[in-house]
Amino acid sequence: MLLRNGTLVNGEKTDILIINGKIYLMKKEIDVFEAGRIFAEITGEELKVIDIENKYIMPGVIDVHTHMRDPGFTHKEDFLSGSKACAKAGITTFIDMPNTNPATVTKEALELKRKSAGEKSVVNFGFHFGGSSDNNAGEIKKVSGVLSTKVFLNVSTGKMLVEDDNVLEDIVKAANFLTVHAEGGMINKALEFNKQFGKGLYVCHVSSREEMNILIKAKADKVLNNEKHPVFAEVTPHHLFLDEEMKDSDEEKKMLYRMKPELKTKADREYLWECIGNGAVDTIGTDHAPHLIREKMEKITFGMPGVETLLALMLTAYNQGKISLEKIQELMCGNPAKIFGIKNKGVLKEGYDADIIIVDTNEKWIVKKEDLLSKCGWSPYEGWELKGKNVLTIVNGNIVYKDGKIFENKGKEVEIDE
Ligand code: DOR
Ligand code: ZN
Ligand code: ZN
Repeated sequence: MLLRNGTLVNGEKTDILIINGKIYLMKKEIDVFEAGRIFAEITGEELKVIDIENKYIMPGVIDVHTHMRDPGFTHKEDFLSGSKACAKAGITTFIDMPNTNPATVTKEALELKRKSAGEKSVVNFGFHFGGSSDNNAGEIKKVSGVLSTKVFLNVSTGKMLVEDDNVLEDIVKAANFLTVHAEGGMINKALEFNKQFGKGLYVCHVSSREEMNILIKAKADKVLNNEKHPVFAEVTPHHLFLDEEMKDSDEEKKMLYRMKPELKTKADREYLWECIGNGAVDTIGTDHAPHLIREKMEKITFGMPGVETLLALMLTAYNQGKISLEKIQELMCGNPAKIFGIKNKGVLKEGYDADIIIVDTNEKWIVKKEDLLSKCGWSPYEGWELKGKNVLTIVNGNIVYKDGKIFENKGKEVEIDE
């Protein structure tokens, strides 16, 4: 396939020739005749040419924080519905969290997930392994190919809280890289364990000024943050676009907008934007945590869906002058790959995987629940008018989403530098 007349986020023009799922050639004005000849020589097939019409061309988004609910809670989401939602919205790789049933805390549970995602997912995928309170350090040592071991240091959805410091020490020692759900002061505990026993720490969903400031201080401290055990900070779209005032404005939202960590104040939200600008934030991860509306309304249930609106929300922010396209690409494509060592993804480069999206930054659209592909069937942004949209998704060189339609594809598990 040849993509013609694309615009990179830095404004430069480019064409991209894709052969056998990889970016084969990337430069301005590739000769179509010559490209067709090379393509036919290698594949024996006729070259397909797509005119991008000067729209933006980006590496597919890598969302390293999703709860796809498969197995165990597949009435909320599964690898098919969740991956279709990703494909539509421009996410070409999602990384799944371990709080499923069974939880991904044994090698056996991981293999089960691998098989299921391999059969169902239309986009690429990967996994965080989980640390468990009954001390699964032995299992952590057995597994490979995961991005990290995720530990819950606060109560959240599922039963994965690790409270015993001796168990935590064993888990951190066994893990190649640590991802934490740590709120408020628990971030200090995570930093301390990373310093003493760890090889790197990724702090999920930093939600407030207080938490952000702990991390800014830690990042500047060579004892806490160095090559041996670096520290990274993620923020979620809901902590950037929603706040407690919005939650309390309406009886339904008081239930729907509950999550861990909870939404904070408008000032906190604005501070997170400031920290995107000053470089303290490393990634945007959705924390896509679907629950049915019924479950959300019956009793307090933490989490909300996010993959389908992530990129469009960020493009809307771009249109409002809050963030550049370069920064969006860095936080959502380049950095996730770099931090977790995901091979051949996150940047547009010859030899890299052809995980590519085409983005229309001018298209306005309204979030409507009837259009959503996530099984949970609702969005916290229902009724919002967004400006900016993914229009074409290519995964491993195959078109998976175009003109509002999803096309069948088998995603692959990411490869990790270990
Ligand atoms: O709100 C949340 N929901 N926070 C989490 O940490 C987990 C997630 C879920 O799995 O529902
Ligand atoms: Zn969490
Ligand atoms: Zn989460």
